[in-house]
Amino acid sequence: MEQSLAGKVAIVTGAGRGIGRAIALAYGAAGAKVAVVSRTPATVDAVAKEIRDAGGEAIGVACDVGKRDQVFAAVQQTVETFGGLNIVVNNAQGFGTEDSPQPSTVFVACEDTNEEEWEYTFRTGATASLWFMKAAFPHMKKAGYGRVINFASSSGQIGFEGNTCYNATKEAIRALSRTAAREWGQHGITVNIINPALETRAFDAWKSARPDFVEALKEKIPVRRLGDPVKDGGPLAVFIAGPGAGYITGQTFMLEGGMHTLP
Ligand SMILES: NC(=O)c1ccc[n+]([C@@H]2O[C@H](COP(=O)([O-])OP(=O)(O)OC[C@H]3O[C@@H](n4cnc5c(N)ncnc54)[C@H](OP(=O)(O)O)[C@@H]3O)[C@@H](O)[C@H]2O)c1
Repeated sequence: MEQSLAGKVAIVTGAGRGIGRAIALAYGAAGAKVAVVSRTPATVDAVAKEIRDAGGEAIGVACDVGKRDQVFAAVQQTVETFGGLNIVVNNAQGFGTEDSPQPSTVFVACEDTNEEEWEYTFRTGATASLWFMKAAFPHMKKAGYGRVINFASSSGQIGFEGNTCYNATKEAIRALSRTAAREWGQHGITVNIINPALETRAFDAWKSARPDFVEALKEKIPVRRLGDPVKDGGPLAVFIAGPGAGYITGQTFMLEGGMHTLP
C-alpha cells in the first residue's frame, strides 16, 4: 500500500506515551521520518525503537517543551538528521507548576488561581506551540508543504469548572492556530486543532479524581465508549498531515465520539 506520509519529516511532542506515542507510531507506519519528543530520554528512545523495529525511521529527542532553547534545539536536530521538516504535532502539555507538576488538571476555583500554575500551563501549552511553529515555519515554507496539528480541549470550549489555567491556554492555542492558518495557507502550510477524549494516563488521572463523572460520561457519548489513542487518534493525525488534507485549515477536529456537538 502507498504510504501517505512517505518522504515527510515529522516532530511529535509528548510522544513518550499516550496520544503522542500513538501518533508517532502511526506516522512511522505511514512512511514519515519521526522525531519522538518528550522529556524522558528512556521513553522517547523506546518509542523511536518501536518505529524502527516496525521498519520505519525515527529518533528520540529528549526536550522539555517549556524550555525555549530546548524547543529550537529539537527542531534543529530533527532538520539536521532528516534534512527538513514538514509536520509538527504540538501534543505535550504541562499541568500544575514546574516545581510540583501534576499528571492532569486538578480542580482550583477561578478566584483561587495560582499564578505559577497559570504561567507554567501557558509556557508548556500555548507558548511551546508558538515556539515550535516559529522554529518550524522556515523549513515548512521552503518545502512548500507544512502541517501543524495543535492539541486543545473541549474543556476550554465549554469552560469546564476548575480548569481555569488549562482552559485558557487551550483556547489560546486554538486562536494561535486559526491566525497562523490564515497567514500560512499561501505557503502550503495548514494549521489545525484536535480536541480529543482518549483513554491515556492523563485521562486516567482525571478519571480517578472524578470517577462518577467519567462513568456517567460514557453513557453520554453517542458512540458509547471512550476513545483509544492508537485506534482512534493515529488515523486522524495521519489524515490531517497527509496530502489529502491540504484544503482543510484553521479547523478544530472533535475526536470525542460525539461527546460535544458544538455548532
Ligand atoms: N486524553 C484526553 O482525553 C485529552 C483530553 C483533552 C485534551 N487532551 C490533550 O491531549 C494531549 C495529550 O494528552 P495525553 O492524554 O496523551 O497525555 P499523557 O498520556 O499524560 O502524555 C503526555 C506526554 O507528554 C509528555 N510531556 C509532559 N510534559 C512535557 C513537557 N514539558 N515537555 C515535553 N513533553 C512533555 C509526557 O512525557 P514526559 O513526562 O517524559 O515528558 C508524555 O509523553 C495534551 O495536550 C492534552 O491536554 C487530552
